[in-house]
Amino acid sequence: MTTRYEQVKAELQENPKTWLITGVAGFIGSNLLETLLRLDQAVVGLDNFATGHQRNLDEVQDLVEKEQWERFRFIEGDICDLETCRQAVGSVDYVLHQAALGSVPRSINDPITTNKANIDGFLNMLVAAKDEDVDSFTYAASSSTYGDHPALPKVEENIGNPLSPYAVTKYVNELYADVFLRVYGFKSIGLRYFNVFGPRQDPEGAYAAVIPRWIAAVINEEKIFINGDGETSRDFCYVRNVVQANILAAIYGGMVDSKVFNVACGKRTSLNGLYDLVSEKINKKIGKEVRVEREYKEFRKGDVRHSLADISSIGHLLGYKPEYDIESGLDEAVSWCLSNYEKK
Ligand SMILES: NC(=O)c1ccc[n+]([C@@H]2O[C@H](COP(=O)([O-])OP(=O)(O)OC[C@H]3O[C@@H](n4cnc5c(N)ncnc54)[C@H](O)[C@@H]3O)[C@@H](O)[C@H]2O)c1
Repeated sequence: MTTRYEQVKAELQENPKTWLITGVAGFIGSNLLETLLRLDQAVVGLDNFATGHQRNLDEVQDLVEKEQWERFRFIEGDICDLETCRQAVGSVDYVLHQAALGSVPRSINDPITTNKANIDGFLNMLVAAKDEDVDSFTYAASSSTYGDHPALPKVEENIGNPLSPYAVTKYVNELYADVFLRVYGFKSIGLRYFNVFGPRQDPEGAYAAVIPRWIAAVINEEKIFINGDGETSRDFCYVRNVVQANILAAIYGGMVDSKVFNVACGKRTSLNGLYDLVSEKINKKIGKEVRVEREYKEFRKGDVRHSLADISSIGHLLGYKPEYDIESGLDEAVSWCLSNYEKK
């Protein structure tokens, strides 16, 4: 039986649309770009390279056909500038708004800069998209919005208090999106991503996410640091599932009443479990037994203890069905890292 996602991809190929991806040079943005170009869509991309990289765009160019790449138009610019947002949104059908400054620790160290990109920039994008009357506006929300709410799994309606400036910004996005519906009748869909991983995720820098950082550490046979006792758990989600959710939300979001959805796999893995999985996957691929040392550190401020998504709502209403679990996602991510990370 064909899935809703397969159906929608076939329809898009037959009847191509024009998409705007903000944050296109980033990890998730460049994965969206790759899939949409492979589906022969026209794509406008906006990015200021705050945390994204030209190399991500170059890699997508290498992965798609020449004619597909020619359907991509890149704008280097900042979402904090309303005119840039208007220019990017002009004449597109669907907006996938990904540009933001991620990372809880970054927002704790510099809340003002995070606030500018994630709230001022978001508001500019909403205004530009509303004024242009685009067919749909889908944005990257975050599981951090659940904050200190203790219930597991996380159900969209039940949120707690935010635990970091980053979480505040992502929650404010949802509030603005909701107000734009009530005041202007402008509908949008927020996708609350749970920890996403996959190709082109940055392993470098103080704010790198745990999976690329650990894969790089194991490849280089360096020590791994674990925040807390290792029993902190996350619903790790392979990026191709996130791409699926965005495409479904763009096409079907206008037909449903819900405005925010969890995007994850509905299964949680502890950091200790993740350490075992990452080691096992890399060892299998390199044909050698590497077991790097792990050191436990303080719990990190602003982190939630456990995270697990209820994905029934997005499943029922948008037809989302994760194609990858953490194991099959890690297989692909590890292969990509082994061919792309330079061994130190
Ligand atoms: N990766 C995750 O696990 C995760 C989880 C929850 C939510 N999110 C959200 O998903 C989105 C994409 O995250 P990602 O992991 O791909 O991060 P990323 O840092 O790789 O990508 C973000 C992109 O946005 C661009 N950007 C930042 N500020 C900008 C600005 N002012 N103007 C224009 N471009 C700007 C960056 O240069 C970068 O290319 C973000 O909104 C993030 O908050 C990610």
